[in-house]
Amino acid sequence: MIDRFWSRRGKTSPQEADLPAGENVPQHVAIIMDGNGRWAQNRGLPRFAGHHSGMKAVKKVTMAADRAGVKYLTLYAFSTENWKRPKSEVDFLMRLPQEFLALELEELIENNVQVRMMGYQENLPSYTLEALEEAIEKTKDNTGLVLNFALNYGSRAEMVDAVRAIATDAVAGQLNPDDIDERLFAGRLFSSELPDPDLLIRTSGELRLSNFMLWQLAYSELWFTDVYWPAFTEELFQEAITEYQRRARRFGGLT
Ligand code: FPP
Repeated sequence: MIDRFWSRRGKTSPQEADLPAGENVPQHVAIIMDGNGRWAQNRGLPRFAGHHSGMKAVKKVTMAADRAGVKYLTLYAFSTENWKRPKSEVDFLMRLPQEFLALELEELIENNVQVRMMGYQENLPSYTLEALEEAIEKTKDNTGLVLNFALNYGSRAEMVDAVRAIATDAVAGQLNPDDIDERLFAGRLFSSELPDPDLLIRTSGELRLSNFMLWQLAYSELWFTDVYWPAFTEELFQEAITEYQRRARRFGGLT
């Protein structure tokens, strides 16, 4: 059954729905979902339990973003550095997209959500990739919220690869070095079809970027909370958006 709150978008104005005002809603929100392990440990549970509850928070926040009128939601689900974790934890994390999509794909489709992913697809287990590819294919014509999973994603590797591809084209005579500019470089990144994030949220009290969208976040507004990701709520999401709406973005210029 469709969650009635999820379905509220378009039927009630954001104000009526007690959501942030429709104006100046960030178009693209990116989230570093941190603190799953600590959330679980604080409850005497194994780390896996934290990741599993983190998956449920993904659903909540996807709904919240959709209702708030956000167009793109990028979630940092697994970094190129997360392979350093114990194999059992990596295996568990790799099962989550499959489980999430088995539970939610139908509802995502009903709600016009378009699923995408960014990151290195090689090294991903076939069941992870196949679940995502199926979701991407089935939602490719949807025109609502874009739910973008950053999976096996690392920003430095992404930029090095972009530089290598540009250098290769230049050496082959297909590209004049004078034509290399920010736009061309950004076009070689995984995020080439997305606008830069307007707002970055990081949970769990850590104040760092952890190799996430380093180029794309150059002028994003940053918002941090001490709350661990599994405990993240729609109210906190709204708080982040309201705070964003209070900020003056100058992009290096003057207001
Ligand atoms: C960081 O918390 C979180 C991760 C490495 C994994 C994030 C994944 C999810 C929230 C679920 C993803 C769901 C889908 C559907 C893809 P941590 O484990 O580093 O926490 P800690 O710092 O407290 O140990």
